[in-house]
Amino acid sequence: FDLTAANTLRLPCKAERYAAPSTLGALQQVVRTAVDKRWAITLLGGGSNVLLPAELTGIAIRPAMQQWWLESHGEEVIAYVGAGANWHSLVMTLAAQGLWGIENLALIPGDCGAAPVQNIGAYGVELNDVLQGVQVVDLSSGSVSWLSAQACQFGYRDSVFKKELAGKVVITQLALRLSRQPAPRLGYGDLVARVSASEAASPTPLTVAQAVCAIRQEKLPDPQVLANAGSFFKNPLVSRTQAADLLQHYPDMPHFPQSDEQTKLAAGWLIDQCGLKGAREGAFGVHARQALVLVHFGGGKRHELLQFASDIAQTVYDRFGVKLEPEPRLIQA
Ligand code: EPU
Repeated sequence: FDLTAANTLRLPCKAERYAAPSTLGALQQVVRTAVDKRWAITLLGGGSNVLLPAELTGIAIRPAMQQWWLESHGEEVIAYVGAGANWHSLVMTLAAQGLWGIENLALIPGDCGAAPVQNIGAYGVELNDVLQGVQVVDLSSGSVSWLSAQACQFGYRDSVFKKELAGKVVITQLALRLSRQPAPRLGYGDLVARVSASEAASPTPLTVAQAVCAIRQEKLPDPQVLANAGSFFKNPLVSRTQAADLLQHYPDMPHFPQSDEQTKLAAGWLIDQCGLKGAREGAFGVHARQALVLVHFGGGKRHELLQFASDIAQTVYDRFGVKLEPEPRLIQA
């Protein structure tokens, strides 16, 4: 199975086996067969946040349950969403229904089931702000259970699915807590200016989602047009003292205090300051409008991309003393 078109970086990848079960029962069956046959399982979603190897042994599974439904509790609405539903389509559909909660997360590529793994976030909102729980299937027994948001141990681009539960469960459904009560969150960057420019009346979930789409379309390359996996590095957390030292030298440096001890810096700004925006090395490059995104012009290999990324991280480290870590997940062969 050729997975080259199934990852948005378009890294060449061949999988020994592939399954996209569209019901919970079919997924449990695939898992039980894989356990019986001792096939290694690799979980895939929309392929927008992974660095795939050239060859994948065992079986790649992409949950394809797409059904979703709403449960009303007065002003509060719970959306139950199948892991295979497209995230952006869900955001736009729910926003159009006047439901608040995930409108800031418009245009994030990928499947709903992958969203909790890295706790997707943008424009001041993270999935964990609205996630009530996730349904999972155990990869050793095929049994189904629910995990609370707390059990997911969410952090910045982090969750239990990258740690203790990595390779142990597959996410099959999400429960999202939405609201009919207006709750716009417009504090990030120029979002508030965009939303108010778009209309005179008060914002709706749809106008916020549309403003987010417009901002993203200006900065971020469309993976259908130019292969990429969104931000290639996480925004680094540094100590408050280190941030203060850097600010002495670079007073304009974007910085976001997280707690008394830690400050988050903008990796895109650090890379940009090193003059690397638009830089190119063989088949890979730094996007010309957003330095945090690495793009693939075609014909490249994963090891070349990793080398390019590590050279960028080294340049940033030499200049600022700040370590950058990749954001997409490195999938083992
Ligand atoms: N900046 C530059 N040059 C650049 C890029 C950024 O100077 O080339 C500066 C910007 O001017 C701004 C700051 O860095 O002051 C932050 O930039 P931006 O608002 O574009 O966001 P980001 O920190 O680069 C993060 C997320 C994005 C998310 C945006 C908006 C991470 C790793 N990335 O990017 O998420 O869409 O904020 O919330 O946290 C993703 O994860 O794939 C992703 C695209």
